[in-house]
Amino acid sequence: MDMVPEKKSNPSIKRVIGVASGKGGVGKSTVAVLLAQSLAARGMSVGMLDADITGPSLPRLLGVDSFRAESDGNKLIPIVNEEGIKVLSINLFNEREDEPVIWRGPLLGKAIEQFWNDSDWGELDYLIIDFPPGTSDIALTALQTIAFSGIVVVGTPQDYVSMIVNKSVRMATMLKTPVLGIVENMRTIVCPHCGKETKLFDDGSEGGRARIGLPVLAELPWRSEVAQAKSLRWSKLSAEAKKDADTITSEMELALASLKPASSS
Ligand SMILES: Nc1ncnc2c1ncn2[C@@H]1O[C@H](COP(=O)(O)OP(=O)(O)OP(=O)(O)O)[C@@H](O)[C@H]1O
Ligand SMILES: [Mg+2]
Repeated sequence: MDMVPEKKSNPSIKRVIGVASGKGGVGKSTVAVLLAQSLAARGMSVGMLDADITGPSLPRLLGVDSFRAESDGNKLIPIVNEEGIKVLSINLFNEREDEPVIWRGPLLGKAIEQFWNDSDWGELDYLIIDFPPGTSDIALTALQTIAFSGIVVVGTPQDYVSMIVNKSVRMATMLKTPVLGIVENMRTIVCPHCGKETKLFDDGSEGGRARIGLPVLAELPWRSEVAQAKSLRWSKLSAEAKKDADTITSEMELALASLKPASSS
């Protein structure tokens, strides 16, 4: 089987970034939205594609969960949020947000293909793709269908122990998709009362990081404002959380710039 089929690129989209992890609940969607918000705040035109078909969370995080997307008969039209970020997610096509998506693998893959090939994204500087957890069929289809500029891997220190993150890195590499680096999430906690930063894990994760051998793009502490926010609006984030988001963006751009021309978009 050819693992790397011809991917259809979209000349109107300058860069496509995937946010992935081998594990669920480590903060992929949070990191993807912080990245998109920080890029939009820098004046870039940004889109977000929710590749998590069975557990979509982008509409809520981007504050558009009460909207419903449509097609113009030919192409799907993304919803635009308050910050100007365009978004497509299966939840925007369901009658109700809590309706479960009970589809089998091939149909799930079709949804990803449609979001990529048959949608009117317009001109974008960045399209950020929020991956489902793990190395499932949908993750594989996304990597085989979409012409990524690079993948940002999200991990928490427990991941390094189980080395599950590494599986998604290996899958991306097998599919000839450049991995830009890791965003390490929730290693420390910032006390909401006194602001002191405390380590949540003391598990030798330095060694785990070194074994994975990828550059660390950013380290994000656990912040109660992020845990409690219904949506991650740029105007509502503290200066510290905005700084976290800006670090991911700056380091990701540096990593993209250092890719060899043949593998960059
Ligand atoms: N830095 C952080 N500080 C506080 N809470 C966080 C942080 N990162 C993520 N969370 C919280 O952890 C939970 C999981 O985060 P998120 O949904 O982004 O993970 P995910 O990897 O996308 O999950 P899934 O695998 O289900 O898609 C959410 O409740 C989120 O608010
Ligand atoms: Mg998610």
